[in-house]
Amino acid sequence: KELVFSGVQPTGNLHLGNYLGAIKRFVAMQAQFECLYCVVDLHAITVWQDPAELTRQIREVTAAFLAAGIDPARSVVFNQSQVPQHAELAWIFNCVARLGWLNRMTQFKEKAGKDRENASVGLYDYPVLMAADILAYRATHVPVGEDQKQHLELTRDIAQKFNNDFAGAIQEQGHGEAFFPITEPLIGGPAARVMSLRDGTKKMSKSDPSDYSRINLTDDSDAIATKVRKAKTDAEPLPSEIAGLEKRPEADNLVGIFAALNDASREDVLREYGGAQFSAFKGALVDLAVAKLGPIGAEMKRLVADPGHIDAVLADGAARAEAIAAPNIAAVKDIVGFVRRR
Ligand code: TYM
Repeated sequence: KELVFSGVQPTGNLHLGNYLGAIKRFVAMQAQFECLYCVVDLHAITVWQDPAELTRQIREVTAAFLAAGIDPARSVVFNQSQVPQHAELAWIFNCVARLGWLNRMTQFKEKAGKDRENASVGLYDYPVLMAADILAYRATHVPVGEDQKQHLELTRDIAQKFNNDFAGAIQEQGHGEAFFPITEPLIGGPAARVMSLRDGTKKMSKSDPSDYSRINLTDDSDAIATKVRKAKTDAEPLPSEIAGLEKRPEADNLVGIFAALNDASREDVLREYGGAQFSAFKGALVDLAVAKLGPIGAEMKRLVADPGHIDAVLADGAARAEAIAAPNIAAVKDIVGFVRRR
């Protein structure tokens, strides 16, 4: 059975990269798949979070999901800490994953920085929890941005090793050849990796100290206009062919953003704007970004003003998520050989 799972961390500002690389695509998948969309608060605390701010951010990411068009009646919208099976399966996967696998994770190396001795154990273990998120539901498809690719490869390795290590019990207990699916990452479109507006070689990120590097989902139209106008570019007009974007990372980024916002391809954008100066193209990009993001930001503000409604959506989602995860985790415990409470 096909099932989509994805998650977003409630840390810092949700930005255009999160929207175009992930959330906008979550919305589109609802037409085709059964979907679970999770606010991954357990992942957030791998780096210290101010408690009141964390609470606010969990509700804000939920609001962003709803404002972008995720329908909580159709898709399961919830926060990770309300469904205990994520942490439970993560422990079992800790005993499946190998140190050598985690030592290769580039995101840990980036996030831990030079002072690795002082990083939390959770930050190191982060990708194992991510595998548990996905496999607690035996999800088959995971839409994410390019930066999550390595974590999804680890998820596949963990699923494969579990299936091999416990092949006998899996077969005996009637699950066939494999208990976990080998999840397929869905990475793609013109905005799989949105870059900083200040530096086309750096990823747009929540943690960049310069707010001019990103467009936040809550930015108003003035902020969007200012940031696009100030975005770094080179001096040439836009090329007419894709090949002309090579070695022009800033131009490539703005064209990719335009394409993704407009449900088009880079080729389509260059067909219309090839030969244009950046001043003209940026004007069109401001209009497009304000038209697409303005209503989302406004709806987010409306939704966060009613935390009671958000919390009710999360509670309903958690109950539906747990109804899927609980029997899966019970089966995993049987496969591993634990004795059930009777
Ligand atoms: P997070 O919260 O950093 O980002 C949420 C989603 O946004 C994508 N993204 C981007 N896409 C394009 N360009 C960018 N500049 C950009 N920045 C972020 C991310 O790829 C992601 O899809 N580990 C995950 C959360 C997670 C998860 C999961 C995802 C936890 N468990 C299970 C999928 C399945 C993360 O930190 O995403």
